[in-house]
Amino acid sequence: MSWDTLLTGVRLATMDPARGCAYGAIEDGALAIEDGRIAWLGSRVELPGDLPSEVEVVDGEGRWVTPGLIDCHTHLVYGGSRAGEFELRLQGASYEEIARRGGGILSTVEATRASSEQELYESAARRLQRFLAEGVTGIEIKSGYGLEFDSELRQLRVARRLGETYPVTVSKTFLGAHTLPPEFEDGDAYIDYLCDQMLPAVASEQLADAVDVFCESIGFNLAQVEKLFSAARDHGLPVKIHAEQLSNMGGAAAAAGWGALSADHLEYLDDQGVAALAASGAVAVLLPGAFYFLRETQLPPVQALRDAGVPIAVASDCNPGSSPAESLLLMLNMACTLFRLTPEEALAGVTRNAAHALGWKQERGVIAAGACADLVLWDIEHPAELAYFLGGNPCHQVVVAGETVLRHG
Ligand code: NIG
Ligand code: FE
Repeated sequence: MSWDTLLTGVRLATMDPARGCAYGAIEDGALAIEDGRIAWLGSRVELPGDLPSEVEVVDGEGRWVTPGLIDCHTHLVYGGSRAGEFELRLQGASYEEIARRGGGILSTVEATRASSEQELYESAARRLQRFLAEGVTGIEIKSGYGLEFDSELRQLRVARRLGETYPVTVSKTFLGAHTLPPEFEDGDAYIDYLCDQMLPAVASEQLADAVDVFCESIGFNLAQVEKLFSAARDHGLPVKIHAEQLSNMGGAAAAAGWGALSADHLEYLDDQGVAALAASGAVAVLLPGAFYFLRETQLPPVQALRDAGVPIAVASDCNPGSSPAESLLLMLNMACTLFRLTPEEALAGVTRNAAHALGWKQERGVIAAGACADLVLWDIEHPAELAYFLGGNPCHQVVVAGETVLRHG
């Protein structure tokens, strides 16, 4: 035993279901870190008597500790802003109408293409720091605002550089199939271009950990999804999908058939879709920020997902059009108020189940022996407070791979 750090005087919300209690909580807990990993955890009274003399003992002063938060669905890297469209929508235009008139995603594509790698990096870094300040230590970042070779790869390189520069683990997703770019009139031809030209380059530069697609009338149809997923499989890349956000196209079930990591949005998911997700083990990622910001009224089938045992994650969907959200804690509140998740389900949605959605199961998103020591210490009296505050930030300290990377106050 050669522990580096022993954290005592903490209440652990382990989020480990094996503990069989709310939040997997250990009151009066202690936790040992060795080589960036959790070496031991338990109640303080169970601590072995013969502690190594060189171990640094840190008193958590009664704070709650959770796993580092994970935002498993973001479009963090983009140029420009869509505040003008927000005003248009307030005057009555719908999100889909704006998209069909060449605004929406395409207006961000224009701004992103016009941005240098450094400009994209700096604006995304500002957003990333806001997430990190709230205890986010893992984040997924999609491309999808380039829609042509150089700018898609530029977005993914920025995502990679963010992960190399900040103490946040970044999962990169290739979303070339976000919408049809202005250079193409035909979705089939664009999907062929993605499969034949872009995907091989993305895969050979190891710029993506997964492939995503927007399956929707203003995105891509099922046949195009299947074609893209087949190409992703040829390159050994896992898949995920934006599905059933504005209508029911059967995208989630199709993705489940390809062993997708997750299906995201899901407001219009039907029973068949729920059953397909349950059978495949894919995670249902709920995005309350987009639901709120687009003033949707169709609720995702949360009870059916629960009944079927589908793991539910919650993410910010941080993007300039449908969810300009820069707070994952606010998403916890919205998941509870809008979707009626319990605070415990919401927290599992940004820890254990978010890790699962990124293929990081066991490694992150849970406080357990052997897992990475990514932890957050909170100034709260109960874990439900994480979903309770609207715009507050009770984060006290963020630890990544056993090292303190941020301390507030
Ligand atoms: O997840 N649904 C598609 N994509 C994004 C929105 C992108 C945008 O409007 O710029 C989403 O909501
Ligand atoms: Fe999205």
